[in-house]
Amino acid sequence: MYNSVSLTQFILEEQRRYSAVSGEFTALLNDVATACKVISAAVNKGALAGVLGGAGSDNVQGEAQKKLDVISNDVVIGCNEWTGHLAALASEEMEEIYPIPAKYPRGKYLLVFDPLDGSSNIDVNISVGTIFSILRCPEGVKEPTAKDFLQPGTQQVCAGYALYGPSTMLVITTGNGVDGFTLDQSVGEFVLTHPKMKIPADTKEFAINASNSRFWEPPVTRYINECLAGKTGPRKQDFNMRWVASMVAEVHRILTRGGIFLYPRDTKDPSKPGRLRLMYEANPMSFIVEQAGGVSSTGRERILDIQPDNLHQRVPVILGSKNEVDRVIQYHKES
Ligand code: AHG
Ligand code: MN
Ligand code: MN
Repeated sequence: MYNSVSLTQFILEEQRRYSAVSGEFTALLNDVATACKVISAAVNKGALAGVLGGAGSDNVQGEAQKKLDVISNDVVIGCNEWTGHLAALASEEMEEIYPIPAKYPRGKYLLVFDPLDGSSNIDVNISVGTIFSILRCPEGVKEPTAKDFLQPGTQQVCAGYALYGPSTMLVITTGNGVDGFTLDQSVGEFVLTHPKMKIPADTKEFAINASNSRFWEPPVTRYINECLAGKTGPRKQDFNMRWVASMVAEVHRILTRGGIFLYPRDTKDPSKPGRLRLMYEANPMSFIVEQAGGVSSTGRERILDIQPDNLHQRVPVILGSKNEVDRVIQYHKES
């Protein structure tokens, strides 16, 4: 093409280097990338294609679905169900898992995804994304059920996200660092533009939805108050704050220039130990963050070590620059 490495070339070369990565996996990742390109096109057309606004339905979490939540979900299924690489899919937008229909061949992988992350931002034309995680279907399982998906994040074969921002990017890890690709719209190809992304260990930027502050637990209140006190407080330095309300955009900023992101446990709704979903959001992002040298924790435990007990379970998430996340973990220990 030109003097650049395409996603296809990159994953094929990875595949040759690491025997654990099979040709089937490479093809699967290409299918996921295709789905992201289709979603990117729909997001980009926006009002021109009549895709903005609510779908008039709620998902299993009781959240109002946007038209683009439903469209993106359908696109991911449509690009992956017939290719023979998956045994089943599970999505934030579907109550039950989606086993590959009998008319198609079944493969050895499971795909878990948040089709459109940050979708409350879609109508105001702010960045949204797609988050995905690839697991192996347990050996010998012919008819996968939800329990086959309940694997800790350490078992992920691959995790990634697409960011539909000023440019469309795909950021992936297969456990060998984190690489970022930018969609060259003129040729329809993801091109390696951000090899081996690393999160700086130190940061002066934090991201949290401060409207929940009265519900926070003491260690989080302590940490944020110290950041807010800036030069005049115990940290003796000023901090900056950002909140996009699209986790994809937040994590991408942290991968690019460092930062800490918190959606901590709070007392707002005692039935929900956190806002973000373990399988669709926390696990894939934690895999990426750790692979980029960052830390990801609930405050009490490493997210990737959590044994899921429910497909749609929620967890507190504190991730990003190592030294800041370690500090928040320490505050949890002390409290
Ligand atoms: P989704 O659009 O998939 O439901 O996810 C939104 C998530 C996450 O992207 C973001 O960090 C957070 O919810 C925003 O929450 P608030 O609306 O409380 O700010
Ligand atoms: Mn989401
Ligand atoms: Mn979503």
